[in-house]
Amino acid sequence: MSRRAITVLTMLAAAAGGCAGRDLPMTTLAPKSDLAQWIYDLFVQVTMWDALILVIVVGAFVLALFFFSTRVGEAAPPKSAASDLGLEAAWTIGPALVVLMISIPTVRTVFRSQPRIPPANALTIRVVGHQWWWEFRFPDSGVVTANELHIPVGRPIRLELVSADVIHSFWVPQLGGKRDLVPGQVNELVFEARETGAFPGQCAEFCGDSHANMRFRVMVETPEQFAQWLDHQKAAPALADAITDPSAAEGARIFANSPCVTCHRIDGVSKGYIAPDLSHFGSRTTLAGAIMPNTPDNVARWIVDPQAEKPGALMPALGLQGRELENLVAYLESLK
Ligand code: CUA
Repeated sequence: MSRRAITVLTMLAAAAGGCAGRDLPMTTLAPKSDLAQWIYDLFVQVTMWDALILVIVVGAFVLALFFFSTRVGEAAPPKSAASDLGLEAAWTIGPALVVLMISIPTVRTVFRSQPRIPPANALTIRVVGHQWWWEFRFPDSGVVTANELHIPVGRPIRLELVSADVIHSFWVPQLGGKRDLVPGQVNELVFEARETGAFPGQCAEFCGDSHANMRFRVMVETPEQFAQWLDHQKAAPALADAITDPSAAEGARIFANSPCVTCHRIDGVSKGYIAPDLSHFGSRTTLAGAIMPNTPDNVARWIVDPQAEKPGALMPALGLQGRELENLVAYLESLK
């Protein structure tokens, strides 16, 4: 294959994989959990059967071309039989066997991915889908965060999936299959990550204007890193009077007196609950449904005009600018 062809193929693969290069690889072909591995194995198995069938069918077709075509000088086409019991039996039993070979491993994987009894040492996390962001609640520790799910490697994770509004679908290609978040219902997803790393996820069910902007990340950490992260998230952030950076301290006062408090919770400051919890906003790597890196410039851009970044976003533009905006951004970034 020429070098040019390889380049074109690579670009096509990148485009098919979700473009921009930012969160690649968003792939099901590099499984990093038990669940993802089962699904991958099933995919490979079915693909092998399909390939075998392709070879048999195309082979039979090519052979037929050579052996059964009418040649020059031949008087008449070969006589055709009205029915052939042997052939009919073959093309009835053959496909039935194919369906059986594909359905047995498929059904087995379906049941395997739906454990009735969660493993005893499973860590339960409640996942709430919102238009268009993700809320993650750790019931055992009371920790609440958004858009970045931290989990320990090598421990079963049991997700309770619920929705605050419409149907969403939780999907982290490298950690397992999609599962819907349905209003008024709790769905479960159990898996165990096998490798540490940050794995991109995406809502996989059309849920409104910014469905494509409903991304998230799963940070798989060592048990020690995870315990440290959880401890850190449990601690309340510093209040305005205790913040040393004057700009951030001023930002804390601006936040406490702004309409932000009606929707956003900051531990010890505000009790809003319909928008992402900001208690440790500065410790996240992304914002706004993981659509952009968490940098002061991006936070400012987001606050100035949320709809420009995420069409249909419920957060209103508050008309903050200049010093006020800078101070508020400094405060939010200080919430490590
Ligand atoms: Cu939520 Cu698509």
